[in-house]
Amino acid sequence: MQWQDEYSIGIQEIDSQHQELVRLFLQITESVAAELDWSEIHLRILQLGSFAEFHFKFEDALMRVFAYPESVEHAGFHEQFFAKLKVIEESAIVDEVRHDMVKLLLDWLFGHILVADKAYANFILGGAAVVRS
Ligand SMILES: [Fe+2]
Ligand SMILES: [Fe+2]
Repeated sequence: MQWQDEYSIGIQEIDSQHQELVRLFLQITESVAAELDWSEIHLRILQLGSFAEFHFKFEDALMRVFAYPESVEHAGFHEQFFAKLKVIEESAIVDEVRHDMVKLLLDWLFGHILVADKAYANFILGGAAVVRS
């Protein structure tokens, strides 16, 4: 469940944001492992959701500025993340958050970075032009 060099997509600001997402994930798993109060775990889930929202909006703007042809499909992937996080957040309130639920979503994020995020990064780094007028 740790950051590895292979997750780097080659755009420094995005890599930093991805590392922050991983750090927020680890904060949740640590609080679950420590059996902290539900409200503390819930707070950390909200913190992850809040930063993920910022990150996804940032990526969306980047893709639009470079007219990335798959930006709409990519936005759909981000919606999947929120749907999955919502289930975890609900669990924190009505039941309990299990380690494997959090790990599954982090694995989803790693997979997303490796395939979808790398795809837009390669498009941009491959010489795509800014299309804003
Ligand atoms: Fe991303
Ligand atoms: Fe993304």
